[in-house]
Amino acid sequence: MPEGNGSDEPLVVMDNCEIVYDEYFLACQGVSVDVTEGDVVALIGPNGAGKSTILKMISGIGQLERGRVTRGSVHFDGEDVTNAGPQEMVDRNVTHVLEDRHVFETLTVEENLRCGLYRNDKRFRYDPEDYELAFEYFPRLEERLDTKAGYISGGEQQMLVIARALLHSPRLLILDEPSLGLAPQLVDDIFETIERINREEEVTMMIADQNVDKVLDAADYGYVVENGQIELHDRAEELLQREEIKEFFIGHDEGEDPYADIKHYKIRKRWV
Ligand SMILES: Nc1ncnc2c1ncn2[C@@H]1O[C@H](COP(=O)(O)OP(=O)(O)O)[C@@H](O)[C@H]1O
Ligand SMILES: [Mg+2]
Repeated sequence: MPEGNGSDEPLVVMDNCEIVYDEYFLACQGVSVDVTEGDVVALIGPNGAGKSTILKMISGIGQLERGRVTRGSVHFDGEDVTNAGPQEMVDRNVTHVLEDRHVFETLTVEENLRCGLYRNDKRFRYDPEDYELAFEYFPRLEERLDTKAGYISGGEQQMLVIARALLHSPRLLILDEPSLGLAPQLVDDIFETIERINREEEVTMMIADQNVDKVLDAADYGYVVENGQIELHDRAEELLQREEIKEFFIGHDEGEDPYADIKHYKIRKRWV
């Protein structure tokens, strides 16, 4: 689907960014993130670390929440898009799937998908084939086409928002917490599908997720975000091997607060 830009420069270059909300709340400092075209890049780290903020400043959604890059710069495809708004980034084929599965609940699954065709000017003149890409990766949606999106399961809603985004023909697809609240089997399915989309459609992706092992499994490269800074970054397979990642993020029971244990806190200190 997307074409390379022919240069060695990464598709996204966030360089030494400071991000401030409401002109006073400092959310991120000195954040540098590169995304190579064709890669899946994972952002991991605890709640409130700044993962969503980084994603929102790339898609322009942050502008709607009074977020600003106050130092540093963001480049997309070699062009300066620092503090660009969401419309400009949509025009550049950046599609952001926000946390919490924002379906239009009172519209059917089909009508939700049709919204994904909006950019192709097919909103009112669409063919059934236009949905093929969505059904290719999420066949379940085809069975649910006439159901109101508010009445399908959480897993199906997650499929729907990713499928809808896919119909935008994204060059960069940003997924914020795609596995949040899903049953383990569905988490596996979603990440498997995400990997397939990346491989087969060659869509570059950025994903923030709490399922650290799963998201790193799907990713080429990973960034650990803590307290608004990048604490660690490496190839995903290297990160998966690191003891502090295993112990801190992966090796605790569901529902248990990994910060509760002082031992983990010491491990965290070693990163700094
Ligand atoms: N719209 C907003 N306005 C003000 N502060 C925000 C907003 N969104 C997030 N924050 C703050 O920015 C920090 C980083 O949050 P966030 O990027 O959502 O972290 P994460 O996605 O890693 O959980 C937190 O302290 C959070 O409270
Ligand atoms: Mg978040």
